[in-house]
Amino acid sequence: MRLGVLISGSGTNLQAIIDAIAAGELDAQVVLVVSSRSDAYGLRRAYEAGIPTMGLSSEVYQDPAAADALIAQEMQVAGADYLVMAGYMRKLGAGLLAAFEDRVINIHPALLPAFPGAHGIADAYEAGVKVTGVTVHFANEDYDAGPIIAQQALEVCEGESLESLEARIHAIEHVLYPQTLQLIAQGRVSITADRKVSIT
Ligand code: GAR
Repeated sequence: MRLGVLISGSGTNLQAIIDAIAAGELDAQVVLVVSSRSDAYGLRRAYEAGIPTMGLSSEVYQDPAAADALIAQEMQVAGADYLVMAGYMRKLGAGLLAAFEDRVINIHPALLPAFPGAHGIADAYEAGVKVTGVTVHFANEDYDAGPIIAQQALEVCEGESLESLEARIHAIEHVLYPQTLQLIAQGRVSITADRKVSIT
């Protein structure tokens, strides 16, 4: 399974994927990392792992459809089978989603459909929920929506700080994302006619 990874920031989930592949726990190869920010630290992680990178400037996104077309083209040239969003903070347009129909995966640090958006952990924390977690899902045209593949919940501890909750959420992400991608690599994940995910 050849993965094209989309990032915007520190790339710890990208690193978890790279590490799982190196450990033989994920039968995949990262063929290209595209960042919506050219200064994202995740680009350095990719470079150090010998993975080709492309950092896009904000000017490129002034025409979102053109940015998506560029990404689709570069991912196809790189031979990506799946697009893996790992902290990619831009919405994907119809053209890019059509080019990789039902082959775009996202991770979100909350139990979707609760707390979508760019601040899932803090929003859940501020709401005072007792349980939150992590979601891996197929992406569609709506931000942080689409058929859910995997979720893992965790209980918010009494008096826990936001920083502590963030650390525990990220620790779950770094295990759940490679594990879920491995299910896909094994051909065990499919989308049913009613647009739900079936895992065998
Ligand atoms: C992760 O927590 C990911 O779930 C989140 O961005 C972070 C990226 O961290 N994504 C979203 O909030 C998507 N709405 P990373 O760059 O260290 O992997």
